Amino acid sequence: MFNYRNLLFVPVALSFTAWTPTSPKGILERISSDKACIKVAEKGLRPLAKQQTERFLGKVDKDTANCRGGDKAMKNRDSVWIDWANYWGTGDVNSKAEGMEAITELGNHLKPNGRGIDGTLVDLEYQRMELLRFNLYDNKTFENYVKGDGKTPGPVLKTWEAMRLPATHPQFQQVTSDNGVQVCKGDLIRYRNLTGICNDIYNPAMGSTNQLFARNVRFESTFPDLGKNDLVLNRHANRLSLLKPDPQIISRKLFTRAQEKPEACNFGQGLPDNSKNAQCDYKKAPFFNVLAAYWIQFMTHDWFYHLREGQNTEAKMPVGCVSQLVNNQEQPVTADQAAKLGCRPNDKVDVAFVAQPEPAPTFEHEGKTYLSRAHRTTENNVTAWWDASQLYGFDELSLKRVKRDPNDSAKLLMIPRGKHTGAGEYLGYLPVFDSCENSKADCVADPINSAWKGQEAAAFADNWTIGLSFYHNLFVREHNLFVDAFRAKAAATPQADSGLRNPAKPDQVIVYQNVSNEELFQIARLVIAAEIAKIHTTEWTTQLLYDEPLYLGMNANWNGLLEKDNPVSNVLEKIVVNRLAKSPVETKANQFYSVFASGAGIFGLGSHRYQDHPGFLGLLPDKKDIWDLRNPEHINGGINHFGSPFNFPEEFTTVYRLHPLLPDLLEFRELQNPNLISKKIPVISTFRGKATQAMTDGGLGSWALSMGRQRLGLLTLQNHAQFLQNLDLPRLQTETNKIDIAALDLIRDRERGVPRFNEFRRQYGLTQLTSFDDFIDQRLEKGSAEQKEQTRMIGLLREVYGQHKCDASKVITDAQLNADGSAINDCLGHPDGTLIDNIEDVDTVVGWLSEFTRPHGFAISETQFHVFILNASRRLFSDRFFTSSFRPEFYSILGHQWVMNNGPGPKQMEPGLYNGHKVEVSPLKRIMLRTMPELSGQLADVRNIFDPWARDRGEYYSLKWKPKTAAVSDESFQ
Ligand code: HEM
Repeated sequence: MFNYRNLLFVPVALSFTAWTPTSPKGILERISSDKACIKVAEKGLRPLAKQQTERFLGKVDKDTANCRGGDKAMKNRDSVWIDWANYWGTGDVNSKAEGMEAITELGNHLKPNGRGIDGTLVDLEYQRMELLRFNLYDNKTFENYVKGDGKTPGPVLKTWEAMRLPATHPQFQQVTSDNGVQVCKGDLIRYRNLTGICNDIYNPAMGSTNQLFARNVRFESTFPDLGKNDLVLNRHANRLSLLKPDPQIISRKLFTRAQEKPEACNFGQGLPDNSKNAQCDYKKAPFFNVLAAYWIQFMTHDWFYHLREGQNTEAKMPVGCVSQLVNNQEQPVTADQAAKLGCRPNDKVDVAFVAQPEPAPTFEHEGKTYLSRAHRTTENNVTAWWDASQLYGFDELSLKRVKRDPNDSAKLLMIPRGKHTGAGEYLGYLPVFDSCENSKADCVADPINSAWKGQEAAAFADNWTIGLSFYHNLFVREHNLFVDAFRAKAAATPQADSGLRNPAKPDQVIVYQNVSNEELFQIARLVIAAEIAKIHTTEWTTQLLYDEPLYLGMNANWNGLLEKDNPVSNVLEKIVVNRLAKSPVETKANQFYSVFASGAGIFGLGSHRYQDHPGFLGLLPDKKDIWDLRNPEHINGGINHFGSPFNFPEEFTTVYRLHPLLPDLLEFRELQNPNLISKKIPVISTFRGKATQAMTDGGLGSWALSMGRQRLGLLTLQNHAQFLQNLDLPRLQTETNKIDIAALDLIRDRERGVPRFNEFRRQYGLTQLTSFDDFIDQRLEKGSAEQKEQTRMIGLLREVYGQHKCDASKVITDAQLNADGSAINDCLGHPDGTLIDNIEDVDTVVGWLSEFTRPHGFAISETQFHVFILNASRRLFSDRFFTSSFRPEFYSILGHQWVMNNGPGPKQMEPGLYNGHKVEVSPLKRIMLRTMPELSGQLADVRNIFDPWARDRGEYYSLKWKPKTAAVSDESFQ
């Protein structure tokens, strides 16, 4: 119970004592917070929303905020941004309630930091569950989702006719039909297939190449420019079109990086001979490096691709630089103004592909009319699975670019290149595409777009950069090392059981010496894909979202089934037991119950089965595992699509338009002299074939060091690379042959009908903004330089997007309601007829770049983050090879252990603690040490490969830019 005696001496002391956790003011805060916790406990947890309009929105009531974050959380409750960012323990050391920890009078696990972090995990789980429930809109199967199939409600459907292979499909004959459901068997289910078919054995086409992108937003909210319904018309009046507001004007006013010495930057072209006197200023993220920027480009090439072989359609269209608002009036851009701004009215670009341009069909259900798909749809031209298809191919054509080693077809071909002495150099580099110039008559040229000439051979070859060259070389080296390790095992114990089984002959043990080259190649692919997924989940994302709750959350996604007493499991248990288990609807008719009752963790779900717990998908270490390859339910039963076949939504591409991450100049360092920047190489000189040349010149090890030490660009306004605004694209054959990629990012989203920012947020269950001023971080000191800068940007947003006189009679959305239950109208809470900001028109990319208010350590914005929570979870939940088929029968015993332990042998631990945790040597660090042993010195005290290597990580999630002792002389710290 509380001790109210403390209250007695507070008022006297308050007047002269500064706030500390143990000062009278601090004590008062603690008592008030403890009391609030008791009220919260009495109220219990909130229910999961049953309708979109009842969603959580990331905002909690007063008592909950007080309990989890005291005064700070209370103070910021009225902002539009999520509350947990203000809870105790969710930031750096200053966010901890250290003094209060000692004096709080609630039970041990209910001390302030624990409440803050637990509370965050609760909020995050609500968000995730509601996203899974309200944000899945598949363009082929939505009618099934709404209506069900007569027996089963839509959100629990597991198979769809639309996910069958058509009779024209080359593998159609190989899938058998069982009671109208197609079933994949035998060789089709052993490995990841080239085009991604048969990952789900009952939905062969799901996630395969050329399936439609999905949506995360209601179809009715897509393509606002088309003005297809009253809500959209009310929301944007007639202010929007493909080129309105003008995308090049937006780019030049809101995206251009300011330069202190423009001549030393030279529009991102740098100075002759890669002189280190070049200078292109950019806003830098202190805790994330250039390796992280290229990592995500490497990932997106695996997940989604709208183009085909680097091409869009043949048709060309203008791209703006023609009109702008001046004093809220639209005016033409004069030649002088264009020159001053740097935009180009004569640029043109190729029109993007559309799969279904014709009007969307509708259907009726319970008296309501629904669109059965978005107004237009597009295809994902690679597999949506996390299957390393950028390395191994996604169709017959790209497969021809994957070069096997002619001397060992289990391996990929690597050859010597460049003159470097590192210990990993013997592992070689990817060969360059062969265009058969100067070759023998029987030479067969590699099938490539002419722009790719001179690049290293890779299945996904578009937009090749030094970073892609880096990761492709790295993972091909790793593939070959796994093959070597497997071979070594086979040589030592040829008759031993490899763990592998052929689903066509499940009883036959496969001993090491009988594993064929093709089998070994495919197992290595499974291992590489799983390593990549693990790095992304536990290493890249925990640095992208550098704070304690996300560290716990992301590790739970991966390891959650294995860890006892995991904090995320505890939170889930509370929600599941308190809420879901009491509802017969949830337990019987919804997958939520079984999935979330299995504990935290998606990786490995359903890869163990138990006689007396047939529906349980988690791990019960004390029970006998009866998982059986002869049982298709065991092979496939760990996956969860939540009623909607898996593919990425269009909105996912939007939040991955991360071009500001790129600097203009790469600071090159030699391994022999790591503190010295020897050259500044323009990124544009490391694009396409020039990437390959730069890799040959610099070598893998020195490029690792250079990109590992350099900070990447912050995702914020006025921080796009200059070279990207002026990119030469000769394929366009236009007057300028140039394009502004930053402007193009906006145009592509408009072509694909992504809702504008405010409706985008409402659709994802986030609070809307009512003016541009909502972007300003309320937590900043009034009059601080940072606050002034944000206010300046807001002025620019207002100038570019304008304002209008609002009309309260116009309802603009049905995704959410006002707090009093009334419909949201054009005035967004302002009095009828006032001049309000055109916040509804803001392009989603511009919106998330303007989010200055972010949780601690977030390199991305809260809006982007919510798109990730949903889709990053689904990417694991839906994939059999990460869930019920993560088994030695598919991966081999060696492969299974390799993924679990980050390489051969037992797990390796780092010395000491890191942010309070004992950690493994990270998966990417292990790979780098294997493939480039020459990095061992540089990596010795690196804990996360994506944190700048020379940065002293300090204590508890510090973001300070401070050198490690050995890097004090590194000029990037001066
Ligand atoms: C030198 C570096 C880069 C260059 C030159 C570049 C250039 C391009 C180009 C030309 C497009 C195609 C535009 C179109 O016609 O639709 C594109 C698309 C895209 N880029 Fe980049 N990019 C670079 C780095 C990155 C990075 C680091 C990311 C980080 C995620 C990224 C994310 C994307 C995304 C998401 C798309 C859309 C792809 C799609 O529509 O399927 N890019 N980029």
